Amino acid sequence: MAWRMTQLLLLALVAAAWGAQSGTPQARTDLLNVCMNAKHHKTKPGPEDKLHDQCSPWKKNACCSVNTSQEAHKDISYLYRFNWDHCGKMEPACKRHFIQDTCLYECSPNLGPWIQEVNQSWRKERVLNVPLCKEDCQIWWEDCRTSYTCKTNWHKGWNWTSGYNQCPVRAACHRFDFYFPTPAALCNEIWSHSFKVSNYGRGSGRCIQMWFDPAQGNPNEGVAKFYAETTNSGAMPQGIGPLLLNLTQILQRWFLG
Ligand SMILES: *[C@@H]1O[C@H](CO)[C@@H](O)[C@H](O)[C@H]1NC(C)=O
Ligand SMILES: *[C@@H]1O[C@H](CO)[C@@H](O)[C@H](O)[C@H]1NC(C)=O
Ligand SMILES: *[C@@H]1O[C@H](CO)[C@@H](O)[C@H](O)[C@H]1NC(C)=O
Ligand SMILES: *[C@@H]1O[C@H](CO)[C@@H](O)[C@H](O)[C@H]1NC(C)=O
Repeated sequence: MAWRMTQLLLLALVAAAWGAQSGTPQARTDLLNVCMNAKHHKTKPGPEDKLHDQCSPWKKNACCSVNTSQEAHKDISYLYRFNWDHCGKMEPACKRHFIQDTCLYECSPNLGPWIQEVNQSWRKERVLNVPLCKEDCQIWWEDCRTSYTCKTNWHKGWNWTSGYNQCPVRAACHRFDFYFPTPAALCNEIWSHSFKVSNYGRGSGRCIQMWFDPAQGNPNEGVAKFYAETTNSGAMPQGIGPLLLNLTQILQRWFLG
């Protein structure tokens, strides 16, 4: 009787191991539908019916609160006290891209495959090399060419003595295309490689869209799933093999001994 049960259990375990190895690649579910552990993110994504203006595409499922979505549209907001107008007024056509970038960063539950741990006072996790769709980067760069800035990396090196970022004394204001000669220079360098502009375009399912029409659903869900599968397939089957072997030994001893 005991032997029969062990046989059945072994059969079940072998079937499970076989399924794990031969089935379609499993997306690491811990990379999907998650919020990073950062300054203003919710702990888990969920619906937010009242998300403000440019952040509203994420209202069905978001990592940002309504308050964060409102603050994302303000100058020197309570979020980061960041001053977009550090070299005179940023053109509104340019600023809307920075607002959209803030909405993506704060609200998106689809950045899991690019989340990295960091040792920073204001956040425990960041994103690195998010594959931004090439058109989203191109249009951002074109709309900002004629605005002014004084730095290439906007994460570091500001003078914060007044409570918001100002250009340090030796950093001169120039047009964006002086500090960012190409779209890739802008998208990759500005936030220390949070983005890595993709060769893929909008609608490809292979790059993250900063702008999307929510009526068609959130295209970034599928993109995250794709990268969660491709970057981590194989990890599970390799890890589960020795564990199952061990488990069968334990079960055999338990039933027979
Ligand atoms: C968001 O919350 C912060 C902190 O509680 C508050 O200072 C700020 O005024 C709020 N913003 C809005 C738009 O309600
Ligand atoms: C983070 O940095 C602090 C101070 O630099 C250090 O004490 C701490 O051990 C670091 N933590 C990790 C996880 O690297
Ligand atoms: C920082 O800004 C303050 C004024 O806001 C100025 O007095 C100071 O010299 C600046 N420091 C540097 C290093 O740029
Ligand atoms: C098997 O399980 C035992 C504890 O029951 C553990 O000490 C051992 O490291 C395990 N071996 C493997 C290969 O997982």
